[in-house]
Amino acid sequence: MTENPAYVTGFANHVSTEAVPGALPIGQNSPQAVPFGLYAEQLSGSAFTAPRSDNRRSWLYRLRPSASHAPFIPYRDAPTFAAPTPNRLRWSPLTAPTAPTDFIDGLMTYAGNGDATAQTGVAIHLYAANRSMDRAFFNADGEWLIVPQSGRLVIFTEMGVLKIEPLQIAVIPRGVKFRVALPEGHATGYILENYGHPFRLPDLGPIGANGLANPRDFETPVAAFEDIDGDYELLQKYAGRLWTTRIDHSPLDVVAWHGNLAPYRYDLRRFNTINTVSFDHPDPSIFTVLTSPSETPSTANADFVIFPPRWMVAEHTFRPPWFHRNIMSEFMGLITGTYDAKAAKDDGNNFAAGGASLHNCMNGHGPDKASYEAAVAADLKPHRIDATMAFMFETRLPLTPTTHAMETPLLQSDYDHCWDNFKKAELPVK
Ligand SMILES: [Fe+2]
Repeated sequence: MTENPAYVTGFANHVSTEAVPGALPIGQNSPQAVPFGLYAEQLSGSAFTAPRSDNRRSWLYRLRPSASHAPFIPYRDAPTFAAPTPNRLRWSPLTAPTAPTDFIDGLMTYAGNGDATAQTGVAIHLYAANRSMDRAFFNADGEWLIVPQSGRLVIFTEMGVLKIEPLQIAVIPRGVKFRVALPEGHATGYILENYGHPFRLPDLGPIGANGLANPRDFETPVAAFEDIDGDYELLQKYAGRLWTTRIDHSPLDVVAWHGNLAPYRYDLRRFNTINTVSFDHPDPSIFTVLTSPSETPSTANADFVIFPPRWMVAEHTFRPPWFHRNIMSEFMGLITGTYDAKAAKDDGNNFAAGGASLHNCMNGHGPDKASYEAAVAADLKPHRIDATMAFMFETRLPLTPTTHAMETPLLQSDYDHCWDNFKKAELPVK
């Protein structure tokens, strides 16, 4: 399987691709005899009967059927969750593991909501790894949106190879098998696990036909496969728990595939950022890259939102994000630079690249005192926010932190203090 992958462009397009000429059946999905004796397998990401606009499935043509394996046995228990908390939480960046740790063993679940077995809600993981996987994994619970913070990833999937680096993302659909190699020998980042409807591009409404993340900038790998015989570990996540089995070959053995359910990558630097050119900061939904709709119209099971480099030109406006209390709950991370509402670095417990914060439903937050005072006093000349990329995993249900997230020494004990000592407003004397 090549480490120099080729891609086709477009979001959720119907793709036909073969790594060996003649491997892809023409004109039908399941011929009596598939070319070369390959096995046809349909991978469905939606119900068979989902409307055509929502229907996601691909046909895979592989060296051996996926069904051929021994029973899975438990590998790691599901994370335990702490009591729900209304408190604002913030974590310092992960430190590199000391023992050999691959992408799967390097996962730390920080928060979640909903229920994987009800196919609603999300889980949020951070990862810190220092070795490439020599085994494969798939997730029966949901799709993974992977946001690297340090270190490049080469993601060998059964449908082709994705290379990503910080400021790029990858989405691996529910069920797709993959392994992650670390060409730099280390990697940290974030994962939004989406139990719900697969991510799609947000509607644009009055913005028009173009803007935000444009469909042409999403890249799907062409077919590539491993033809490796011998003992191989296959992991899966199912109902929150990790399971393992052993097979006698690489499961990344899809020689050809066609369909519209496939992994893809996107470069966040291609986001067409739209913002005010008059006054007042728009709602941050203007920065939505991908959305997973719920059954409630326009209320996302999960949104992926970024805060990219951009010009700030608003007149007579408090330019950073304002104070707010939302029904949606927000988990934030920082890939690089400084976030414009969290400039304070007085004690080292700041919102640092690789760190994270959680602001749950209806609990007030917004600029820290230093950012607030700087913004109120700012000379409102056009100003470019540069060399930064923060993001938000936003979700309609409150997020419950895991026991790990509440007990790790990375949890900052003094986060609330960034909103201490705001001066009381002064009303005119009667
Ligand atoms: Fe917020």
